[in-house]
Amino acid sequence: MSHNATTKVAGVIGWPVDHSKSPRLHGYWLDRYGLDGAYLPLPVVPGRLESAVHGLSALGFRGANVTIPHKEAVIQLVDRVDAIAQRIGAVNTLVVSDSGELEGRNTDAYGFLTNLCMGGSDWVTAPDRAVILGAGGAARAVIVALQDFGVRQLRVVNRSRGKAEALRAVFGPIIEVVDWAERHEALADAGLLVNTTSLGMAGQPPLELELGDLPTGAVVTDIVYSPLVTPLLRTAAARGNPTVDGLGMLLHQAVPGFEAWFGRRPEVTAALRQHLLDG
Ligand code: ATR
Repeated sequence: MSHNATTKVAGVIGWPVDHSKSPRLHGYWLDRYGLDGAYLPLPVVPGRLESAVHGLSALGFRGANVTIPHKEAVIQLVDRVDAIAQRIGAVNTLVVSDSGELEGRNTDAYGFLTNLCMGGSDWVTAPDRAVILGAGGAARAVIVALQDFGVRQLRVVNRSRGKAEALRAVFGPIIEVVDWAERHEALADAGLLVNTTSLGMAGQPPLELELGDLPTGAVVTDIVYSPLVTPLLRTAAARGNPTVDGLGMLLHQAVPGFEAWFGRRPEVTAALRQHLLDG
């Protein structure tokens, strides 16, 4: 589609950004709905984040996604931060208002929970206890999502115990901190297991985790989506646990941003999933 002065423009700010699947994802929806829009990769080195973010409004952008390594730093650069982004401590979606103000939002918790609930669990109510592996930025989004869903206890297991303790200081007694060495036993009584570490991702070390103590009814999900079926998900499925892969989180977190920028709420479909897996 050719572009002109009325084309609605958005993009993804990151460094590096060439690995990002967001242009393929938003490009699919723009084509599918025949919208006059464009979504661009926007490589921004860390030292130029402020100028880039302030330039969005000046250039007439509708907004942008923000990815590694800028998600935390960008929070200081916007006019308003929504409540969820404040709790997560990071922004992944910027929306420029008609008056040129910049709002920072975070749709990762929404994406995580929507994927979890649509992707394989048949929960009517939240499980009592979840185990979360990892205590980085992704873990914070998962914690906010599960807290809002109504999970009563979140057992955070992290290699660096201090980072898990810092989460307890922020989120309170809903967080139980467990040493990395005790991760296998920590699975007892869990209704949900979430891997938010990079372990198991293509090119990263494996996740060494014995699932023997995990109830077979517990849902297992992985933030990692490359490979789509991680060794954790394969092992869990083989012993009968319901599993949810991580690709759906990426797809669902993109929905609110697309709607805000381009004016139409897009659908997450099997064809979209396949389009992402093909590219
Ligand atoms: P993200 O924003 O994706 O969460 P991150 O903030 O860098 O990324 O967090 C990565 C997580 O993977 C952390 O919990 C990290 O553990 P540490 O806090 O101890 O660094 C975890 N992780 C990465 N490599 C790991 C490894 N080899 N063993 C155990 N945990 C690992």
